[in-house]
Amino acid sequence: MTEILASRGPQYARIYSVGAAAPSRVIDNEYLLQFIDSSDEWITQRTGIKERRWIGEGENIETLSLTAANQAIERAGIDRAEIGAVILSTISHYHQTPALAPKLATRLGIPDAAAYDISAACAGFCYGLAQAESIVRAGQATYVLLIAGETISEITNLTDRGTAFLFGDGAGAVIVGPSETNGIGPVVWGSDGAQEGVIWQTADWHAAVESGEFPKLGMDGRAVFKWATSFIAQATKKCLDGAGLAPDQLDVFIPHQANDRITDTLLRYLKLPESVVVARTIRQYGNNSAATVPMAMDALLSSGEAKSGQTALIIGFGAGLVYAGQVITLP
Ligand code: ACO
Repeated sequence: MTEILASRGPQYARIYSVGAAAPSRVIDNEYLLQFIDSSDEWITQRTGIKERRWIGEGENIETLSLTAANQAIERAGIDRAEIGAVILSTISHYHQTPALAPKLATRLGIPDAAAYDISAACAGFCYGLAQAESIVRAGQATYVLLIAGETISEITNLTDRGTAFLFGDGAGAVIVGPSETNGIGPVVWGSDGAQEGVIWQTADWHAAVESGEFPKLGMDGRAVFKWATSFIAQATKKCLDGAGLAPDQLDVFIPHQANDRITDTLLRYLKLPESVVVARTIRQYGNNSAATVPMAMDALLSSGEAKSGQTALIIGFGAGLVYAGQVITLP
């Protein structure tokens, strides 16, 4: 048999930097009351959300993704030519093909990188991080740029009182590269297609063409809530176990920002000490789907609540149903 050379990479990978972009238009709960029968008090108490950001004039998934990515690249201090792969995680890019990642790579001045989009809804960043870590460690790229960009406002049904208030737009990005010590723990991930009907798109392309209506997001909120507070709680524990850590060795917890009450349940389940810093960006950003985790990471680091080098547990979960989480060292 002819021997085929295999690529070889560094033993470990880590996140070098994070960047984020939130659109300028602030949408408070009051604004939504013209479309749904609700109240600021109900939305705040049931979800934690006070406001969210939606794209306005001149803003779109590309502008947000480029801003977050440029910030991550500059903060990493690396040469763009050394970025060998660009991954975009999104469920709100309009085109089934071509993917947006190649265009973003070119506009970012990254020459000839492997570039592709992935679709894993609110778990998309953690799915992408697992891929980026494997690519680096396999020696298939020196650095990977992972972007999560979403404009969920464009697929939100404003008259649906079960979802209209939940989502916001934004983007986050990280650079993943080689490391002397391990900065990304084993991913805990999975899916359950039997629950595809729990979070759905109101029409596929055929049905949308026939009805003339743009597809929107639909959701059985109670079913997602139940799944997140039971199955996902167990998955958070598996992330810690996989990394060989006890809850009291954690500094920061960044769960997907779907609902503050889900976060509270996960905290109780893990019995995290009070000293652990917990992401609560849902209050100002809502649920940004794939972009949630990197946006929350950037917010905690920028505000000084979390520090570079600290150990964090991240986990995302959503439509599919899909989920993914890992323990990381903060950049
Ligand atoms: N305003 C006021 N009252 C409301 C509203 C509203 N917008 N919506 C529902 N209610 C009422 C209901 O009518 C009901 O009243 P009743 O008790 O008199 O019958 C009551 O509030 C409770 O309704 P529930 O549907 O049980 O509300 P719940 O407490 O479950 O909250 C919510 C709904 C916030 C959507 C919650 O279920 C949730 O956060 N689910 C998880 C969402 C999530 O995690 N999504 C992530 C994935 S998204 C992705 O992958 C793209």
